[in-house]
Amino acid sequence: MAAPLPALSNPLAPGSPCPLPGTADVGVPWTELGFSLRPTAAHVVMTWSEDTGAWSEPTLESEPYIKVHIGATALHYGQACFEGLKAFAHDDSSVHLFRPTANANRLRSSAKRTVMPELTDELFLSAARTCVAANMGYVPPASSNGALYLRPLLFGSGPRIGLQPSGEYKFVVLATPVGDYYKGGLSPVRGKVVTEYDRAAPRGVGAVKVAGNYAADLLPNIEGKADGFPILLYLDSATQSVVEEFSTSNFIGINREKNEFVTPKSPSVLPSITNLSLQQIAKDMGMTVSVRPVPLSELDDFDEVIACGTAVVVTPVNELTLGDKVYKFGSDEVGEVTMELYRRVREIQQGKAPDNHGWLEKVC
Ligand SMILES: Cc1ncc(COP(=O)(O)O)c(C=O)c1O
Repeated sequence: MAAPLPALSNPLAPGSPCPLPGTADVGVPWTELGFSLRPTAAHVVMTWSEDTGAWSEPTLESEPYIKVHIGATALHYGQACFEGLKAFAHDDSSVHLFRPTANANRLRSSAKRTVMPELTDELFLSAARTCVAANMGYVPPASSNGALYLRPLLFGSGPRIGLQPSGEYKFVVLATPVGDYYKGGLSPVRGKVVTEYDRAAPRGVGAVKVAGNYAADLLPNIEGKADGFPILLYLDSATQSVVEEFSTSNFIGINREKNEFVTPKSPSVLPSITNLSLQQIAKDMGMTVSVRPVPLSELDDFDEVIACGTAVVVTPVNELTLGDKVYKFGSDEVGEVTMELYRRVREIQQGKAPDNHGWLEKVC
């Protein structure tokens, strides 16, 4: 059932009291959320059509379904891309999005590469803020350390039978409350370096967040998990000699002796917003930040390895297996630099440290 936007967007009207986060019944205690898709109050939908050449006014829909033509280009040709970002409640019950314009920017580069209409920062931000405002009760309270995860999705919804861009597109922003992944503290995982599959071709679509990249990674992930590896590291597909990134997170290596934060520079790695934030924090901590090609042989030099991304922020990786070789990083404990980077970024997100870089966008 569709509800008109003005009624549900009232929470953002000037002078309106901001609804309180954490008032909805999510079926489990706020501290038990994990990372799964739970029902919320509404999602935002906008439509672009070649007839108007413009995006429609956003509407809020309460039913989590969308009707698309069976010939939709997203279904046949994978003309689809998405984003992931979080909104955090602070102790004073205000709610803030973390770096949403960086997601807007990345969505535009994904849209451009897959020939879809782009959204301005303003449109993206207004849809994201509306989605948070309509789901304010589902924003986990500050004390739970959780967040409201937003998934903006752009796809070709109009029919084509030959390979061509669609004449109609949907932009959807859905929300789900997620928990503090590390409520028991950070814990290191074992990873595997993938050599039987590639994630991205050198001049392909690895640097954009298109849906097909993730379909291609499902089988390697299932096989990796069956072998006891919860996380997979991909190399460059041309030579398999340079480190690229994990399935859904960027690679960071810490060389403590050199006080260096190293992360791969490659045209087929997704520019992670968490990585950019951690790079800035590392600089604030006085570290040297090197964004450059990372030869596989350099894995021997790292004291700590981190997989970083919005969902979990940082995953400490304490060993990586490549055939018969096992690269070890530090002990079984979480490295001190990893801990400090994690602590600092979480404090900014939760409003417990000053937002010196202007990363928070207040919803209300
Ligand atoms: C392939 C890939 N790399 C890196 C990331 C991390 O990016 P971010 O920190 O913006 O979530 C993600 C998740 O979006 C991803 O899917």
